[in-house]
Amino acid sequence: MQRKKIHFGIIGLGLMGKEFSSSIARWCHLLDNSPIPVVSAICDKNKETWKWYEDNFKDITIKTDDYKDLLNSKDIDAIYCAVPHNLHEKIYTDIINAGKHLLGEKPFGIDKNANKNILEAIKNNPEVSVRCSSEFPYFPACQQLIKWLNARKYGRLIEVRTGFHHSSDMDLNKPINWKRMVEINGEYGCMGDLGIHTLHIPFRMGWKPKNVYADLQKIAETRPDGSGGMVPCKTWDNAVLTCRSTDRETGKEFSMIIETKRMAPGSTNNWFIEVYGTEGSVIFSTHNPKAFNFLTTSGKEQGWTRIDVGSQSAIPTITGGIFEFGFSDAFQQMIGAFMHELSGNENKHPFGNVTPEETMWSHELFTAALQSGKTGNRVEIN
Ligand SMILES: NC(=O)c1ccc[n+]([C@@H]2O[C@H](COP(=O)([O-])OP(=O)(O)OC[C@H]3O[C@@H](n4cnc5c(N)ncnc54)[C@H](O)[C@@H]3O)[C@@H](O)[C@H]2O)c1
Repeated sequence: MQRKKIHFGIIGLGLMGKEFSSSIARWCHLLDNSPIPVVSAICDKNKETWKWYEDNFKDITIKTDDYKDLLNSKDIDAIYCAVPHNLHEKIYTDIINAGKHLLGEKPFGIDKNANKNILEAIKNNPEVSVRCSSEFPYFPACQQLIKWLNARKYGRLIEVRTGFHHSSDMDLNKPINWKRMVEINGEYGCMGDLGIHTLHIPFRMGWKPKNVYADLQKIAETRPDGSGGMVPCKTWDNAVLTCRSTDRETGKEFSMIIETKRMAPGSTNNWFIEVYGTEGSVIFSTHNPKAFNFLTTSGKEQGWTRIDVGSQSAIPTITGGIFEFGFSDAFQQMIGAFMHELSGNENKHPFGNVTPEETMWSHELFTAALQSGKTGNRVEIN
């Protein structure tokens, strides 16, 4: 039987639009019987971005600088949207109200109010599937960690540390771009940019912070404007959120530390999660992407075990089991999970994409963190 095709329109053809499309171009990589995604339409205000897509995707039938052309086409089933944060609310709500499925990018609205309006559109269009992108949990070693967490091998939770560290902003000569402008990137700064990645697994485990103390830092005060001058750089560079959370199963409280840093010396793109409990602990970090590290506590003895995990991803692939797995593979696996969602067999995938409700929790946390940053107090999260 011929596999169903899902025709995607892509809005925003920059860094992530290309990553999405390249994953689709090598869809034969996955050994899966879900529908096949096809890049059928592209949209970007900057027409210079079109060429790479024109050169590489023969099924494109719509090229436009007006995203409404994609929404008005009956030939488009779903949209991947990767545009600057100030555009999320308007474009995402238009996509959803047009009845198109949406894989959107974080932070899913520039602020809490924008996110609320996106969620309202979802409520009014229950037939539309909407998810937010977050790819790192799809590393095979991290999928092992998730299985371990689901089996509750940690006993009583002591502490969860999760974070995303970047270092490219350590270069103070790097010119400013929209991701460093408050009006376009948002007041959350590094939290809006990196935060949802750190929260995907904790939220799925039901670990929702109930309060937060935020240590926010602006380190790069100015940046080159790209034309020989300097301009203020107003976004938060680094954030350390110290939270209390409750384990739903036991009702016991534990500490949650969430770090989102753009100025973390030595960390090109390091996403990590560490879970410490009375009976067991686990660590995964993209610094060491093959390694699933776990520890079992036996009386007073605790010893770490490291397992080298190959490419055995949640959705099987043609790659030999011992070979290495990378960012692009994780991104493709994430889209695979979205395709499972669209094909109605969501439960088949062990770890679905970030849900709209989870994006709302992230906005509640970041909004409280901004308040904590301003007042210097610990802030309760509703
Ligand atoms: N999942 C991830 O790992 C990851 C990584 C980086 C960025 N992102 C997210 O992806 C989104 C886009 O980031 P990026 O790095 O691809 O940015 P980018 O600047 O590389 O690309 C954004 C594109 O949107 C286009 N655009 C702007 N206004 C538009 C409009 N009205 N209609 C159509 N196109 C328009 C721009 O011309 C540009 O080509 C953001 O939400 C960002 O937070 C996610």
